[in-house]
Amino acid sequence: MTPASNDIPALILGTAMWGWTMDARTCFGVLDAFYEAGFREVDAATNYPINRQPADFRLSERILCEWIQTHGVTDLRVMMKVGSVDNMRSPDNNLHKSFLLMCLDDYRELLGSNLDMLMIHWDNREDESEIAQTLEALALARAAGLKVGLSGIRFPEAYAQANEKFQLDFYIQLKHNLLQSDYNKYKPFHGKRRFMAYGINAGGVKLDAAEYASQSSLTVRGGDTSNQSPLIAGLKSWLDLQQAKYVTDFNQCSMTYAYHSEDIAGLLIGPSKVDQLRGTIDFYYKMQQIDFQHIYDQLVELKKQYAGAQ
Ligand SMILES: NC(=O)c1ccc[n+]([C@@H]2O[C@H](COP(=O)([O-])OP(=O)(O)OC[C@H]3O[C@@H](n4cnc5c(N)ncnc54)[C@H](OP(=O)(O)O)[C@@H]3O)[C@@H](O)[C@H]2O)c1
Repeated sequence: MTPASNDIPALILGTAMWGWTMDARTCFGVLDAFYEAGFREVDAATNYPINRQPADFRLSERILCEWIQTHGVTDLRVMMKVGSVDNMRSPDNNLHKSFLLMCLDDYRELLGSNLDMLMIHWDNREDESEIAQTLEALALARAAGLKVGLSGIRFPEAYAQANEKFQLDFYIQLKHNLLQSDYNKYKPFHGKRRFMAYGINAGGVKLDAAEYASQSSLTVRGGDTSNQSPLIAGLKSWLDLQQAKYVTDFNQCSMTYAYHSEDIAGLLIGPSKVDQLRGTIDFYYKMQQIDFQHIYDQLVELKKQYAGAQ
């Protein structure tokens, strides 16, 4: 089986926890396994890991570049999110055309033919003329043969308006999981099947609160590990009832949900261990062999059932 065909969501390896909960050796192991399985798409950002340690600014991409150099690889497809000026989780960024073009040059130099897409990372602006200047930089990236995209956009409508002039075919990363989704926020871009879902495990939710450790992704990100959401309890009961016939854990429920959701062109996965990656790949293939639509429908029903109780 090929890793992905055009009509199913692609599997894209995320690097947000690289250099944070994952040391360089673990990152190498995960990317080795991902690449050996035939997958090529990798998501990166200047500010990864966003761990508020200034010394770690751009550490994730350094590990990625080291992997590329060590293996002499030229056919990764890296989507690089730019605009951040630190990794402090602050909204401070620089989306001026000149800065973005500098980033473009920098990443073309660092990644060579492995650079596939340039994306704007976080924008809280609403002013269309300012956004238009940002889009001028993306238009030049497109002219240089790259795909272009958006991530963490506060006013998607302003981007849609400003893009009337440029007609850029954006890929868009959006948070989309069983507990929370930004899909409705991006209405102007619906129907194009250009969304890539991140946070599909809601940042690392485990069904059993006892599974969280001090280095769990959700713990270090400061997420809620109390598992108070009624949907989690509902999911556990539902999983018991269907006796692991189709899905066995939260990651598989999450993948089923994202894979079958409308307009989703890619699943941004964030395995922190090789075993998690292998489990995710196996399940990805299973979803291509067996129809999971009815499982998705049941998950949507569960979501509706618990919507008022969140
Ligand atoms: N555009 C943006 O603003 C944005 C935002 C967030 C993320 N992203 C991208 O999307 C990628 C994924 O996002 P995310 O980290 O939030 O994804 P996520 O799927 O919600 O959370 C990842 C965490 O879930 C757990 N997990 C993953 N696979 C598992 C498996 N097979 N079995 C059990 N647990 C599993 C791991 O937690 P433990 O380590 O605790 O086991 C892992 O670190 C990021 O790396 C980044 O590239 C983009």
